[in-house]
Amino acid sequence: MAILNLDLGTRSYPIYIDSGLLSKVDLLSSHIRAKRVCIVSNDIVAPLYIDALKAKLTDFSVDEVILPDGEAEKSLANFEVIMSHLLTNEHGRDTTLIALGGGVIGDITGFAAACYQRGIDFIQIPTTLLSQVDSSVGGKTAVNHPLGKNMIGAFYQPKAVFIDIDSLATLPVREFNAGMAEVIKYGILGDKVFFEWIEDNISGIKSADKQILAQMIEKCCQCKADIVASDETETGIRALLNLGHTFAHAIEAEQGYGKWLHGEAVATGMVLAAKLAVAMNLLEVSELRRMEKLILAFDLPVIAPQDMGFTEFIRHMRRDKKNIAGKLRFIIPTAIGQSEIRDDVSQDTLQEIL
Ligand code: NAD
Ligand code: GLY
Repeated sequence: MAILNLDLGTRSYPIYIDSGLLSKVDLLSSHIRAKRVCIVSNDIVAPLYIDALKAKLTDFSVDEVILPDGEAEKSLANFEVIMSHLLTNEHGRDTTLIALGGGVIGDITGFAAACYQRGIDFIQIPTTLLSQVDSSVGGKTAVNHPLGKNMIGAFYQPKAVFIDIDSLATLPVREFNAGMAEVIKYGILGDKVFFEWIEDNISGIKSADKQILAQMIEKCCQCKADIVASDETETGIRALLNLGHTFAHAIEAEQGYGKWLHGEAVATGMVLAAKLAVAMNLLEVSELRRMEKLILAFDLPVIAPQDMGFTEFIRHMRRDKKNIAGKLRFIIPTAIGQSEIRDDVSQDTLQEIL
């Protein structure tokens, strides 16, 4: 088992990564403050894993909120469903929420934990590749608004993250590939050696070799933990983790949440960011082609939706959380393994690539 630590002083927490983690070791209880636990999951993941989880919680009083599946359910309406459940069942400040599911469940549960009675404990048990390599770590919690992705939320850290690689066995291939977009992101934004490691291990990754998956997930979590430890609330370097996301969030909101998977939108977003870099003479075309090739190896899209051009993108990008004083800011890859935050992208260049 790998155990990483996200170092945030009194709010530090461990990230456990293993195959068969939930059935092997009973680590969970040491991270639960008192006797009450509420599991938040959805109607796809709960039938697969909630019984195994509950079997590890026999010393606790456990109830659950099962939400409908889908990105469109990461909503204020379902946030209220969780609040109403907690209040109806008289949960107190000592309750621990457990998020059992992908990034949608992790994000909404974390936000509910941040808000219920001004903050209660929560634990992340991510079950998709995307949530295991990215969203369960770092404390960004949120719900979507019809006018913008993740627009209502909080920075709020979990007490622990439990990554059981075995849960990927039931994940549809399209979802696995969407997670690979965030994996490739780490390579492009700051780690050429890791990018090359992915290139060299495509077949092992695709065949779900457990050792390779464990190595890959650990690498991503370590990268994220290091960045978050130095910039928890994104006043600087953490913004690099948003490579491709300025475009991706526009695609997701414009197309309707759930039509494009988040990872698919990030894949295309990273290619658009790279095209921007090429147009600004900051990136070699050969590097762009190499990025595209790796993204395509996981059957991810590299072209924006046909019905979206400059006007549709800009409408959403104006609300991007990275903007400062109304100025758009983009994460620009300047080489494989290197990226910068830039606010000097001209409208003409944007128009050209969109
Ligand atoms: P998701 O949570 O919708 O899960 C994808 C699909 O897989 C869903 O249908 C889900 O029910 C299903 N599923 C989950 N685990 C499964 C399993 N083990 N077996 C079978 N099916 C399973 O999507 P996601 O890709 O995990 O997460 C995307 C969300 O994460 C987006 O809302 C995005 O904004 C957010 N996100 C947040 C952060 C962050 O830092 N907080 C980072 C990246 C993405
Ligand atoms: N996924 C971007 C971040 O956590 O900052």
